[in-house]
Amino acid sequence: METNLLEIKKLNVSFSGFHAVSDVDLNVKEGEIHVVIGPNGAGKSTLMDLLTGQTKPTSGQVLFEGNNITGKEPGIIASKYHIGRKFQGPNVFDNMTVYENVEIALKGYTTILKALTYKRTKDKKDKIKEILEAIQLFDKKDMMASELSHGQRQWLEIGMVMAQSPKLIILDEPVAGMTDVETYKTGEMVKQLAGEHTMIVIEHDMEFVEQIAQTVTVLHQGKVLAEGTFEEIKNNPKVIQVYLQDENGEGY
Ligand SMILES: Nc1ncnc2c1ncn2[C@@H]1O[C@H](COP(=O)(O)OP(=O)(O)OP(=O)(O)O)[C@@H](O)[C@H]1O
Ligand SMILES: [Mg+2]
Repeated sequence: METNLLEIKKLNVSFSGFHAVSDVDLNVKEGEIHVVIGPNGAGKSTLMDLLTGQTKPTSGQVLFEGNNITGKEPGIIASKYHIGRKFQGPNVFDNMTVYENVEIALKGYTTILKALTYKRTKDKKDKIKEILEAIQLFDKKDMMASELSHGQRQWLEIGMVMAQSPKLIILDEPVAGMTDVETYKTGEMVKQLAGEHTMIVIEHDMEFVEQIAQTVTVLHQGKVLAEGTFEEIKNNPKVIQVYLQDENGEGY
């Protein structure tokens, strides 16, 4: 039987009367890749803020492995419940190598000084190597992060999230600005991560969504408009109308 790792129940947040997230119910199954799509301003990133503690909900519940994590602090959600997140903006240390970036993430951002002086034990080295291979940057490990391409920097960030051994990984628009080749590679990377990790991915790139999604939830004006497989979502008239239709009225 498939179990839910994450259950969101009737979650709400409003900012001075504006309902950014409105009565959202969403379940994420253990090991799946769950994609959240929807127009700009639909509330996708805000919903993730509510999961990872950056924003406190006005009402509703977030259950993770059956634990009520509603309104807990971001540090607790990350370290005690093991929910990792890659934000929309860049978060790598430019003046360090690729290897050092992963190494620091492994030790935790809070103790950067300690991380720089700790011994590279075999276990740690193996773990770093495993991550660098998964994000296809092992051969670039001694390069400065600043020398990486945009796509490679995004992968490094995914690696830095992986270093925290999260059960749930949240990626907010991971392929924005990537080339088609990089986008495809990212999709394969995400599929490899799933299973061991459960994934929530926010994206606008529908080809990428088709490549990776097991379940798709569509948000519109803070509410869940539809949920289903990619095929179901792609053919849903409501979704086509608010999101997938181009200027000629053609769907994806
Ligand atoms: N802290 C805040 N205070 C006030 N309004 C906010 C706050 N955070 C988000 N909003 C508003 O909530 C709405 C949803 O924003 P959100 O960033 O979640 O959208 P999104 O679906 O992630 O869009 P995009 O695809 O453009 O990233 C927007 O209208 C935004 O302006
Ligand atoms: Mg967003």
